[in-house]
Amino acid sequence: MFDLKAYLNDVRAPVDQLLQHYLSAQSPATRVSHAMTYSVMAGGKRLRPVLCIAAAETVGGSREAVLPLACALEFIHTYSLIHDDLPAMDNDDKRRGKPTCHVQFDEATAILAGDALLTLAFEILAAAGTRCASEDQSRWLLAITQIASAAGFRGMIEGQMRDMAFEGTVISTVELESLHRLKTGKMIEISVGSGALVSGASTRQQQLLQVYAQNIGLAFQVVDDILNVKGDPERLGKATGTDRIRGKNTYPSLLGLSGAEALAGQLVNNALKVLDAFDNGADCLRAIARYVIERNR
Ligand code: IPE
Ligand code: IPE
Ligand code: MG
Ligand code: MG
Repeated sequence: MFDLKAYLNDVRAPVDQLLQHYLSAQSPATRVSHAMTYSVMAGGKRLRPVLCIAAAETVGGSREAVLPLACALEFIHTYSLIHDDLPAMDNDDKRRGKPTCHVQFDEATAILAGDALLTLAFEILAAAGTRCASEDQSRWLLAITQIASAAGFRGMIEGQMRDMAFEGTVISTVELESLHRLKTGKMIEISVGSGALVSGASTRQQQLLQVYAQNIGLAFQVVDDILNVKGDPERLGKATGTDRIRGKNTYPSLLGLSGAEALAGQLVNNALKVLDAFDNGADCLRAIARYVIERNR
């Protein structure tokens, strides 16, 4: 039986160490670097770095080689959370068990800390792509292009726009699915995809892992919606019940709680089915897929 807990601890330690290293590069610390460090090091599950590393290892790549990539993904994710919590967006005051960045610092600092994390991510990616072996450089360049696209106006940003635009109106499940695939799915998809790509995955492996990632990416946001209804705010480190108050379109609001749970289970089964093509080297990805629906934080 694959020990996911041990794997997560094993992967998170070097990720956290390197995240801290990148953030400490600004010395002495400034107000904005304090704000960046505050939000990044507040905790978080580090799911995107873990997925990136697990995908790399599944295709025979090395953990060390993708650590900068894993950290860049976490910086982009944390920037998106800081901005997501701003008064102009979800207006939340708790994140990762602490006051949100704009509450702890101020709104302008939170906006700029988010901007700085996003740009830092691409600085790290470009530097890693420059340093790698010349035969791997085209893979890194393609990965960087795909990450920019996933985070940008055809990906996560558009998902965030729709999430806000549809507040207070009821949309169809088809519209909700594409919203969720953009808002959350794209970054999860690219976490798996970029880890595999720079680690030398074959085209076939990339295709299979993309289907895996698309399924767990959507399942992850379905579960985020479910936890907003029935999760424990202490464990989650953020408020619950807020989606309903803001008139957000969510899977529980459209399908009911049990309908949403059934969908999440089905998506994870789809993801596991695709992994049948891999041997036990993909056990980490299998365990992460199960974790996506079993999680309570
Ligand atoms: C929360 O992401 C926001 C979504 C995209 C659903 P996570 O649940 O991965 O948040 P952290 O990183 O653990 O704080
Ligand atoms: C956050 O989605 C998605 C991004 C940050 C891109 P939500 O607004 O649904 O997530 P939480 O519940 O605040 O973490
Ligand atoms: Mg939001
Ligand atoms: Mg939010």
